[in-house]
Amino acid sequence: MTNAIKRSHDLVILNKTSKEKFKKFLLSLGNKTQNTFNHFGEINTITVTSIAVKEFTRNDKEKFFGFIDGELTVYGFLTRFDKITKKHNCTLGIVVSDTWQKKGLGHKMCQHMIDFAWKHGFTKIWLAVYSDNKIGINLYKSLGFQIEGIFINDEKFNTQNRHVISMARFKNENDYDTKRLDMWKKLNLDL
Ligand SMILES: CC(C)(COP(=O)(O)OP(=O)(O)OC[C@H]1O[C@@H](n2cnc3c(N)ncnc32)[C@H](O)[C@@H]1OP(=O)(O)O)[C@@H](O)C(=O)NCCC(=O)NCCS
Repeated sequence: MTNAIKRSHDLVILNKTSKEKFKKFLLSLGNKTQNTFNHFGEINTITVTSIAVKEFTRNDKEKFFGFIDGELTVYGFLTRFDKITKKHNCTLGIVVSDTWQKKGLGHKMCQHMIDFAWKHGFTKIWLAVYSDNKIGINLYKSLGFQIEGIFINDEKFNTQNRHVISMARFKNENDYDTKRLDMWKKLNLDL
């Protein structure tokens, strides 16, 4: 077992941190990370304070701050929907700091958030991931997320179109792939 993998077991997950630690964490995210996680738009020294203030005042989100030896290394969140018919559902977001990626922290944090969601009455977790984010897609698949849809040319980065994959994890662990394919065929026939 490498030192890094051993250390990942020491991830401490809290529901709060200081604004300063959060800002430092956000500013540490490099271009590659921001290219796959752009939930906050561009993070830089000008935008970081308003991003942190806004995030800390949001009460539609459960926030999860992951620390290794006191250093904030992972931020994850579950966002509730306002719509009364979607109260069983929430969206998941996660970002691991550049130097701590691919050491098992994303998996650990996501599993923690999934357990939290089931404990707090949710029965479905939904997320969106760019089709070119192999690590993200592998992570979610390994946690039991299913592909729900593919949104072609959904976003544009300068001139480059990117496709968005929607994925979901169900508390009942049912695999809905066959149902989806049947519905897809039927919808195409009926139109
Ligand atoms: C995507 C992200 C959250 C994954 O977290 P992580 O800590 O780096 O990933 P982990 O070490 O926990 O690995 C999780 C899975 O990714 C996959 N993975 C790890 N390294 C990989 C690699 N080099 N290539 C492909 N897949 C890889 C494995 O399937 C692994 O599954 P396992 O846990 O069953 O072994 C993290 O890399 C990150 O923050 N990236 C930038 C921001 C981002 O993409 N956020 C998600 C937006 S939807």
